[in-house]
Amino acid sequence: MVLSTTGHNTPRILAVSNQKGGVGKTTTAINLGTALAAIDEKVLVIDLDPQGNASTGLGVQADKRKISAYDVLIGNEKIENAIVPTSVPNLSLISSTLDLLGLENDLSQYENRSFRLRDELLNLFSRYGMLKPEQQFTYIIIDCPPSLNLLTVNALSAAQSVLIPLQCEFFALEGLSQIISTIEEVKASLNPGLSIHGVILTMFDKRNRIAREVVEEVRNVLGSKVYSTLIPRNVKVSEAPSHGKPVLLYDHTCSGSKAYIELATELIQRERDMVA
Ligand SMILES: Nc1ncnc2c1ncn2[C@@H]1O[C@H](COP(=O)(O)OP(=O)(O)OP(=O)(O)O)[C@@H](O)[C@H]1O
Ligand SMILES: [Mg+2]
Repeated sequence: MVLSTTGHNTPRILAVSNQKGGVGKTTTAINLGTALAAIDEKVLVIDLDPQGNASTGLGVQADKRKISAYDVLIGNEKIENAIVPTSVPNLSLISSTLDLLGLENDLSQYENRSFRLRDELLNLFSRYGMLKPEQQFTYIIIDCPPSLNLLTVNALSAAQSVLIPLQCEFFALEGLSQIISTIEEVKASLNPGLSIHGVILTMFDKRNRIAREVVEEVRNVLGSKVYSTLIPRNVKVSEAPSHGKPVLLYDHTCSGSKAYIELATELIQRERDMVA
């Protein structure tokens, strides 16, 4: 098995989750994934949101999503058949389709419905040595939908750690307790090894006094759980998905790109500290 720069000898599985909508989950999954791929990690992004924004933002249009996360979770396809390359070297995707909207219902009779993703990933790892080199991932990043439904439960049951994006706005802390208590519940009942990797402050506008106060307050409350890297509000970040590209490919010099590279560096440093 590939030994990643983190020192772990299995892929690190990170879920990007917050039940609050529009806080930067997908943007973080795509751009953190790209930044990690740029420093030679082998990255798989799993799009678990029926909206399919991560798939679109990585340039995998609907007609290329023949085998999707739904097929894997329902058990129609082996997970490696669902993995597609993206325009980003070292970054692959398992895409989402609207079928995912019906997953909760379709899995209702399955006793292991909370563990479908975990078990498929374990299957993948058991065949690791036989996989193509580009499928021997060091990081798996799961983009969650903005709700605490069965898809999110599957992500949290499969993940080792959770990244929580938080938008720098007045209501930032509202709702945070909900995701934290969900993580605690999953940890207690389904996935004892689950941890919070960190809180990522997104869409920061330094000219906005409220945003500056929010950063201070979140840091006071959560301390070292908050990444030092602040993701700025940057128009290039919001334009990039309409070109089917991560911002790092769209404009690698903009402030958003620089911030996601800094975030990847900080994440890897935290990973090293964890195993040290
Ligand atoms: N740093 C940023 N600067 C400017 N715009 C941003 C930034 N981050 C995200 N956005 C924009 O904000 C919107 C919400 O971001 P994103 O889709 O990543 O959030 P999300 O949490 O995944 O949303 P959802 O809950 O709907 O899945 C998008 O239009 C995105 O382009
Ligand atoms: Mg999203």
